[in-house]
Amino acid sequence: MLSLTTCQYEIVKTSFGAVSILDKNVNEIMHNPVGPWVEANELYINQSQLRDRLLNCASDSYVVFDVGLGAAANSLAVLHAYDGLRKEGRKLPRLKIVSFEQNLELLKFALQNSKEFSHFSGYEIAIEKLISTGKCHTDSLEWILCYGNFLNTIEQASAEADVVYYDPYSPKVNSEMWTVECFEKLKLRMKPNAILYTYSQSTPVRVALILAGYFVGIGTSTGFKLETTQASRTFSVLKSPLGKRWLSRWQNSRSQLPYGWTEDRMADVKAKILNHDQMSGHASHLSQVNCQVKCNDMI
Ligand SMILES: C[S@@+](CC[C@H](N)C(=O)[O-])C[C@H]1O[C@@H](n2cnc3c(N)ncnc32)[C@H](O)[C@@H]1O
Repeated sequence: MLSLTTCQYEIVKTSFGAVSILDKNVNEIMHNPVGPWVEANELYINQSQLRDRLLNCASDSYVVFDVGLGAAANSLAVLHAYDGLRKEGRKLPRLKIVSFEQNLELLKFALQNSKEFSHFSGYEIAIEKLISTGKCHTDSLEWILCYGNFLNTIEQASAEADVVYYDPYSPKVNSEMWTVECFEKLKLRMKPNAILYTYSQSTPVRVALILAGYFVGIGTSTGFKLETTQASRTFSVLKSPLGKRWLSRWQNSRSQLPYGWTEDRMADVKAKILNHDQMSGHASHLSQVNCQVKCNDMI
Protein backbone atom coordinates (compact mmCIF):
# COMPACT_ATOMS: atom_id res chain seq x y z
CA MET A 1 0.00 0.00 0.00
CA LEU A 2 1.26 3.50 -0.78
CA SER A 3 1.90 5.77 2.18
CA LEU A 4 0.31 9.20 1.78
CA THR A 5 2.60 10.86 4.29
CA THR A 6 6.12 11.65 3.22
CA CYS A 7 8.83 12.26 5.76
CA GLN A 8 10.14 15.79 6.12
CA TYR A 9 13.67 14.49 6.70
CA GLU A 10 16.08 12.38 4.71
CA ILE A 11 19.50 10.94 5.48
CA VAL A 12 21.96 12.35 2.94
CA LYS A 13 25.70 12.47 2.26
CA THR A 14 27.29 15.92 2.11
CA SER A 15 29.80 16.91 -0.57
CA PHE A 16 32.54 16.09 2.00
CA GLY A 17 31.10 12.57 2.36
CA ALA A 18 29.66 13.10 5.85
CA VAL A 19 26.30 11.63 6.81
CA SER A 20 23.77 14.36 7.59
CA ILE A 21 20.06 15.13 7.44
CA LEU A 22 18.19 17.11 4.81
CA ASP A 23 15.17 19.05 6.09
CA LYS A 24 12.99 19.14 2.99
CA ASN A 25 10.71 21.87 4.36
CA VAL A 26 13.48 24.42 4.64
CA ASN A 27 15.67 22.70 2.04
CA GLU A 28 18.75 22.80 4.27
CA ILE A 29 21.27 20.04 4.89
CA MET A 30 22.32 20.23 8.50
CA HIS A 31 25.93 21.08 9.19
CA ASN A 32 26.79 21.13 5.52
CA PRO A 33 29.38 20.17 4.31
CA VAL A 34 31.41 18.80 7.25
CA GLY A 35 28.52 16.90 8.85
CA PRO A 36 27.00 17.15 12.32
CA TRP A 37 29.72 15.48 14.34
CA VAL A 38 32.69 17.40 12.93
CA GLU A 39 30.85 20.72 13.18
CA ALA A 40 29.66 20.03 16.72
CA ASN A 41 33.22 19.31 17.83
CA GLU A 42 35.15 21.89 15.80
CA LEU A 43 32.83 24.83 16.06
CA TYR A 44 31.36 24.33 19.51
CA ILE A 45 33.28 21.92 21.78
CA ASN A 46 36.88 22.59 20.67
CA GLN A 47 36.48 26.29 19.94
CA SER A 48 34.95 26.92 23.36
CA GLN A 49 37.66 24.73 24.98
CA LEU A 50 34.87 23.01 26.82
CA ARG A 51 37.06 20.32 28.37
CA ASP A 52 39.46 22.92 29.86
CA ARG A 53 36.56 25.02 31.07
CA LEU A 54 35.02 22.01 32.82
CA LEU A 55 38.34 21.05 34.40
CA ASN A 56 39.03 24.62 35.58
CA CYS A 57 35.48 25.51 36.57
CA ALA A 58 35.51 27.42 39.85
CA SER A 59 31.84 26.78 40.51
CA ASP A 60 30.19 23.45 41.38
CA SER A 61 28.06 23.51 38.23
CA TYR A 62 28.55 24.40 34.58
CA VAL A 63 25.64 25.38 32.32
CA VAL A 64 25.52 24.88 28.54
CA PHE A 65 22.72 26.40 26.46
CA ASP A 66 22.12 24.29 23.35
CA VAL A 67 19.93 26.53 21.20
CA GLY A 68 18.27 24.47 18.47
CA LEU A 69 18.56 20.91 19.84
CA GLY A 70 17.66 19.55 16.39
CA ALA A 71 19.25 16.13 15.94
CA ALA A 72 21.24 16.59 19.18
CA ALA A 73 24.75 16.53 17.67
CA ASN A 74 25.88 19.51 19.75
CA SER A 75 24.41 18.27 23.02
CA LEU A 76 25.76 14.76 22.41
CA ALA A 77 29.19 16.27 21.72
CA VAL A 78 28.97 17.97 25.14
CA LEU A 79 28.01 14.66 26.74
CA HIS A 80 30.86 12.80 25.00
CA ALA A 81 33.37 15.44 26.18
CA TYR A 82 32.04 15.33 29.74
CA ASP A 83 31.83 11.53 29.94
CA GLY A 84 35.33 11.22 28.46
CA LEU A 85 36.76 13.34 31.28
CA ARG A 86 34.70 11.48 33.85
CA LYS A 87 36.08 8.14 32.64
CA GLU A 88 39.59 9.57 33.15
CA GLY A 89 38.58 10.14 36.78
CA ARG A 90 38.86 13.95 36.52
CA LYS A 91 37.17 16.21 39.05
CA LEU A 92 34.27 17.92 37.32
CA PRO A 93 31.47 20.32 38.14
CA ARG A 94 27.89 19.15 37.80
CA LEU A 95 26.90 19.62 34.16
CA LYS A 96 23.59 21.15 33.14
CA ILE A 97 22.65 21.14 29.46
CA VAL A 98 19.60 23.25 28.62
CA SER A 99 18.38 22.37 25.13
CA PHE A 100 15.91 24.68 23.39
CA GLU A 101 13.67 23.22 20.70
CA GLN A 102 10.17 23.70 19.33
CA ASN A 103 9.92 20.64 17.10
CA LEU A 104 11.09 17.20 18.22
CA GLU A 105 10.45 15.45 14.90
CA LEU A 106 14.05 15.87 13.77
CA LEU A 107 15.38 14.28 16.96
CA LYS A 108 12.89 11.43 16.67
CA PHE A 109 13.97 10.88 13.07
CA ALA A 110 17.66 10.89 14.06
CA LEU A 111 16.95 8.45 16.90
CA GLN A 112 15.11 6.10 14.51
CA ASN A 113 18.18 6.25 12.26
CA SER A 114 20.71 6.21 15.08
CA LYS A 115 22.73 3.44 13.41
CA GLU A 116 23.81 6.09 10.87
CA PHE A 117 25.24 8.29 13.64
CA SER A 118 27.84 6.57 15.81
CA HIS A 119 27.72 9.45 18.32
CA PHE A 120 24.23 8.24 19.36
CA SER A 121 25.63 4.94 20.60
CA GLY A 122 25.07 4.59 24.35
CA TYR A 123 22.87 7.69 24.55
CA GLU A 124 19.68 6.33 22.98
CA ILE A 125 17.89 5.83 26.32
CA ALA A 126 18.85 9.32 27.52
CA ILE A 127 17.40 10.81 24.33
CA GLU A 128 14.20 8.77 24.61
CA LYS A 129 13.83 10.05 28.16
CA LEU A 130 14.47 13.64 27.12
CA ILE A 131 11.81 13.36 24.42
CA SER A 132 9.20 11.70 26.62
CA THR A 133 9.72 13.56 29.92
CA GLY A 134 11.64 16.73 29.00
CA LYS A 135 14.56 15.81 31.24
CA CYS A 136 17.18 13.23 31.91
CA HIS A 137 19.60 13.18 34.81
CA THR A 138 22.28 11.16 36.55
CA ASP A 139 24.30 11.88 39.72
CA SER A 140 26.62 14.20 37.84
CA LEU A 141 24.54 15.77 35.11
CA GLU A 142 21.18 17.10 34.15
CA TRP A 143 19.85 17.47 30.59
CA ILE A 144 16.74 19.62 30.31
CA LEU A 145 14.52 20.31 27.31
CA CYS A 146 12.95 23.78 27.09
CA TYR A 147 10.22 22.91 24.63
CA GLY A 148 8.54 25.70 22.65
CA ASN A 149 9.44 28.86 20.80
CA PHE A 150 12.85 30.03 22.02
CA LEU A 151 11.64 33.64 22.10
CA ASN A 152 9.32 32.61 24.94
CA THR A 153 11.20 29.76 26.60
CA ILE A 154 14.43 31.73 27.00
CA GLU A 155 12.58 34.08 29.35
CA GLN A 156 11.65 31.16 31.58
CA ALA A 157 15.06 29.47 31.60
CA SER A 158 15.89 28.68 35.22
CA ALA A 159 19.67 28.74 34.80
CA GLU A 160 22.20 31.22 33.46
CA ALA A 161 24.54 30.02 30.73
CA ASP A 162 28.31 29.64 31.01
CA VAL A 163 28.44 28.94 27.29
CA VAL A 164 25.89 29.15 24.44
CA TYR A 165 25.95 26.98 21.32
CA TYR A 166 23.66 28.91 18.99
CA ASP A 167 22.52 26.71 16.13
CA PRO A 168 19.11 27.56 14.61
CA TYR A 169 18.51 27.31 10.89
CA SER A 170 19.96 30.08 8.73
CA PRO A 171 18.48 33.61 8.85
CA LYS A 172 17.02 33.05 5.38
CA VAL A 173 14.52 30.49 6.74
CA ASN A 174 14.63 31.12 10.50
CA SER A 175 14.78 34.91 10.72
CA GLU A 176 13.10 35.26 14.15
CA MET A 177 16.14 33.62 15.76
CA TRP A 178 18.59 36.24 14.49
CA THR A 179 16.88 39.46 15.60
CA VAL A 180 18.08 42.12 18.03
CA GLU A 181 15.13 41.28 20.29
CA CYS A 182 16.03 37.60 20.39
CA PHE A 183 19.70 38.28 21.19
CA GLU A 184 18.70 40.77 23.90
CA LYS A 185 16.55 38.15 25.60
CA LEU A 186 19.35 35.61 25.43
CA LYS A 187 21.90 38.06 26.82
CA LEU A 188 19.84 38.41 30.00
CA ARG A 189 20.25 34.66 30.62
CA MET A 190 24.03 34.60 30.05
CA LYS A 191 26.62 34.97 32.82
CA PRO A 192 28.89 38.01 32.32
CA ASN A 193 31.82 35.96 30.98
CA ALA A 194 29.72 33.54 28.95
CA ILE A 195 30.46 33.29 25.22
CA LEU A 196 27.97 32.57 22.46
CA TYR A 197 29.31 30.59 19.50
CA THR A 198 27.47 30.40 16.20
CA TYR A 199 28.20 29.29 12.64
CA SER A 200 26.97 32.51 11.05
CA GLN A 201 29.45 35.06 9.77
CA SER A 202 26.86 37.34 8.22
CA THR A 203 27.07 41.10 8.67
CA PRO A 204 23.36 41.54 9.60
CA VAL A 205 23.75 38.91 12.35
CA ARG A 206 26.86 40.61 13.73
CA VAL A 207 25.12 43.99 13.60
CA ALA A 208 22.11 42.54 15.45
CA LEU A 209 24.42 41.18 18.15
CA ILE A 210 26.19 44.54 18.54
CA LEU A 211 22.86 46.39 18.74
CA ALA A 212 21.69 43.87 21.34
CA GLY A 213 24.63 44.93 23.50
CA TYR A 214 27.22 42.21 22.90
CA PHE A 215 30.87 42.51 22.06
CA VAL A 216 31.44 40.50 18.89
CA GLY A 217 34.40 38.56 17.58
CA ILE A 218 35.55 36.29 14.79
CA GLY A 219 35.06 32.59 15.40
CA THR A 220 36.92 29.61 13.99
CA SER A 221 36.48 28.49 10.36
CA THR A 222 34.41 25.45 9.46
CA GLY A 223 33.63 23.78 6.15
CA PHE A 224 33.47 26.43 3.43
CA LYS A 225 33.23 29.23 6.01
CA LEU A 226 36.43 31.08 6.66
CA GLU A 227 34.94 32.69 9.75
CA THR A 228 32.15 32.14 12.23
CA THR A 229 31.08 34.37 15.12
CA GLN A 230 31.57 34.65 18.89
CA ALA A 231 29.79 37.14 21.15
CA SER A 232 29.84 38.02 24.82
CA ARG A 233 28.82 40.68 27.31
CA THR A 234 32.53 40.91 28.21
CA PHE A 235 35.02 42.22 25.67
CA SER A 236 38.13 40.63 27.18
CA VAL A 237 36.89 37.04 26.78
CA LEU A 238 36.76 37.32 22.98
CA LYS A 239 39.74 35.81 21.15
CA SER A 240 39.54 37.94 18.05
CA PRO A 241 37.23 40.95 18.43
CA LEU A 242 35.89 42.70 15.36
CA GLY A 243 37.72 45.98 14.89
CA LYS A 244 38.56 48.65 12.38
CA ARG A 245 38.88 46.22 9.47
CA TRP A 246 35.35 44.90 10.03
CA LEU A 247 34.04 48.41 10.62
CA SER A 248 35.32 49.64 7.27
CA ARG A 249 33.89 46.54 5.53
CA TRP A 250 30.56 47.24 7.28
CA GLN A 251 30.62 50.89 6.15
CA ASN A 252 30.96 49.73 2.53
CA SER A 253 28.52 46.85 2.88
CA ARG A 254 25.09 46.67 1.29
CA SER A 255 23.81 44.78 4.35
CA GLN A 256 24.37 47.27 7.14
CA LEU A 257 21.11 46.57 8.95
CA PRO A 258 19.88 43.55 10.90
CA TYR A 259 17.62 41.26 8.88
CA GLY A 260 14.14 42.73 8.41
CA TRP A 261 15.10 46.31 9.32
CA THR A 262 14.26 49.10 6.91
CA GLU A 263 16.37 52.02 5.66
CA ASP A 264 14.58 54.54 7.90
CA ARG A 265 16.53 53.09 10.84
CA MET A 266 19.91 53.48 9.13
CA ALA A 267 20.97 56.74 10.77
CA ASP A 268 20.21 55.36 14.22
CA VAL A 269 22.05 52.10 13.49
CA LYS A 270 25.09 53.97 12.16
CA ALA A 271 25.25 56.12 15.27
CA LYS A 272 24.94 53.09 17.56
CA ILE A 273 27.58 51.03 15.74
CA LEU A 274 30.08 53.89 15.52
CA ASN A 275 29.60 54.79 19.19
CA HIS A 276 29.63 51.22 20.44
CA ASP A 277 32.50 50.74 22.93
CA GLN A 278 34.06 48.03 20.77
CA MET A 279 34.04 50.05 17.55
CA SER A 280 35.12 53.32 19.12
CA GLY A 281 38.12 51.53 20.63
CA HIS A 282 36.93 52.25 24.17
CA ALA A 283 36.51 48.57 25.12
CA SER A 284 39.93 47.73 23.73
CA HIS A 285 41.52 50.52 25.73
CA LEU A 286 39.78 49.41 28.95
CA SER A 287 40.72 45.83 28.30
CA GLN A 288 44.38 46.60 27.67
CA VAL A 289 44.53 48.45 30.93
CA ASN A 290 43.17 45.41 32.76
CA CYS A 291 44.50 42.42 30.88
CA GLN A 292 46.28 41.13 27.79
CA VAL A 293 43.92 40.67 24.86
CA LYS A 294 44.69 39.16 21.49
CA CYS A 295 43.14 41.58 19.13
CA ASN A 296 44.00 40.83 15.52
CA ASP A 297 42.35 43.71 13.73
CA MET A 298 41.86 46.52 16.19
CA ILE A 299 44.59 48.63 14.62
C1 LIG B 1 20.11 23.40 12.38
S1 LIG B 1 18.93 22.65 13.41
C2 LIG B 1 19.86 22.32 14.87
C3 LIG B 1 20.87 21.22 14.76
C4 LIG B 1 21.33 20.75 16.10
N1 LIG B 1 21.98 21.78 16.89
C5 LIG B 1 22.16 19.52 16.07
O1 LIG B 1 23.25 19.54 16.67
O2 LIG B 1 21.74 18.54 15.46
C6 LIG B 1 17.97 24.02 13.95
C7 LIG B 1 16.93 23.68 15.01
O3 LIG B 1 16.47 24.89 15.58
C8 LIG B 1 15.11 24.72 15.89
N2 LIG B 1 14.45 26.04 15.99
C9 LIG B 1 14.33 26.96 15.01
N3 LIG B 1 13.65 28.04 15.43
C10 LIG B 1 13.32 27.80 16.72
C11 LIG B 1 12.60 28.54 17.70
N4 LIG B 1 12.08 29.74 17.42
N5 LIG B 1 12.45 28.00 18.93
C12 LIG B 1 12.99 26.79 19.21
N6 LIG B 1 13.68 26.02 18.32
C13 LIG B 1 13.85 26.52 17.09
C14 LIG B 1 14.57 23.92 14.73
O4 LIG B 1 13.34 23.27 15.05
C15 LIG B 1 15.71 22.96 14.43
O5 LIG B 1 15.53 21.72 15.04
